[in-house]
Amino acid sequence: MRIYLDHNATTPVRPEVADAMSAALREYGGNPSSPHAEGMAARRAIERAREQVAHLVGAEPEQVIFTSGATEANNAVLHGVLESAPRARHIVSSTADHPSVAEPLAALCETGALSLTQVPVDEDGRIRVSAFEAALTSRADSTLVSLLLANNETGVLQDAAALAERAHAQGIPVHLDATQAVGKLPVAVATLGADWLVASAHKLNGPKGVGFLVERGTARALPAYLRGGSQEKGRRGGTENLPGIVGLGVACELARLELAARMAQMEKLRDQLWQGIERSVPRVRRNGDAAFVLCNTLNVEFIGCAGDVLLQALDGEGVAVSTGAACHSGSIDPSSVLLAMGRSPEQARASLRFSLGFSNTEAEIERVIALLPSLVRRVRELE
Ligand SMILES: Cc1ncc(COP(=O)(O)O)c(C=O)c1O
Repeated sequence: MRIYLDHNATTPVRPEVADAMSAALREYGGNPSSPHAEGMAARRAIERAREQVAHLVGAEPEQVIFTSGATEANNAVLHGVLESAPRARHIVSSTADHPSVAEPLAALCETGALSLTQVPVDEDGRIRVSAFEAALTSRADSTLVSLLLANNETGVLQDAAALAERAHAQGIPVHLDATQAVGKLPVAVATLGADWLVASAHKLNGPKGVGFLVERGTARALPAYLRGGSQEKGRRGGTENLPGIVGLGVACELARLELAARMAQMEKLRDQLWQGIERSVPRVRRNGDAAFVLCNTLNVEFIGCAGDVLLQALDGEGVAVSTGAACHSGSIDPSSVLLAMGRSPEQARASLRFSLGFSNTEAEIERVIALLPSLVRRVRELE
């Protein structure tokens, strides 16, 4: 049996989710926009999912817009804010953003549509409030603050509520990428101070290719970004991904009901893994703030060990982990997140991410702890 410790890349679909999706495919033959009985049944399934999503993140159902995932939702907010900005086009983000935020921002900067201030993260991966305040006050005309609630590579959490409060005090709206946080910690859009919140089904045991954007209506309304249909209040035209949306809804419902138990279980196993590694593998260092971190994520530098080779060695033994953002696996570029935290390229290349899911077991973790000392020794000898 393989041991899957790469849940920040994607999670296996829960059987309840798969069952609901399969039933939706069979039962809802109508177009959700059609006014007949078949259409209205399909519409009800979508609206039920909207309620399930809203319930998980403390939003109102009418604030939820379904998307193809978090990448689309992040792009929609960034482009939409700029399109609707009257004059100033300056965004404050951080040096440890996910590529689905960092890359559109970089592209917009290149075209001259935008100027950007990236607040540095400290060596633990956190944005210091003082650095954030300095970035806010360096310009009087910022259009948006874009924050990542939980980092996908290190699991490090930002104090989004405190940062959002500073931004709002200056009249600047806040976009929050909560993709890694939803389903792993309590997320309430208003408490976090997000004007827009983004997440994705496949990170919480739902299907791939569907996600959502919560728009609280507390900031300027964004323009439509997929034109050609009235779906999603005309904001995102196109016939809805009904089975995907149904699956997302069920995944959210399960996450809400099981959140406390899942968090306790993942945290216990994550700590067991780190203690086992520390005890049995010499020269290791944990990356990221150990207090402000997702319950399921452990990022470790195996000093002097090639992370990509260790990943292959673990894979050969039946264990799936990651060297960094899975969206980039195959690339041997050192993790930009770890570089932003002040690690050298060698240190970043020597780091692995272990990300747990609720179905991992103590026995699996013990097996990984038992495998690591000899694998790390072998890989270090190759250097
Ligand atoms: C923090 C974060 N934001 C956005 C995304 C993109 O999500 P999706 O795959 O739904 O486009 C990911 C996925 O890796 C992520 O971890």
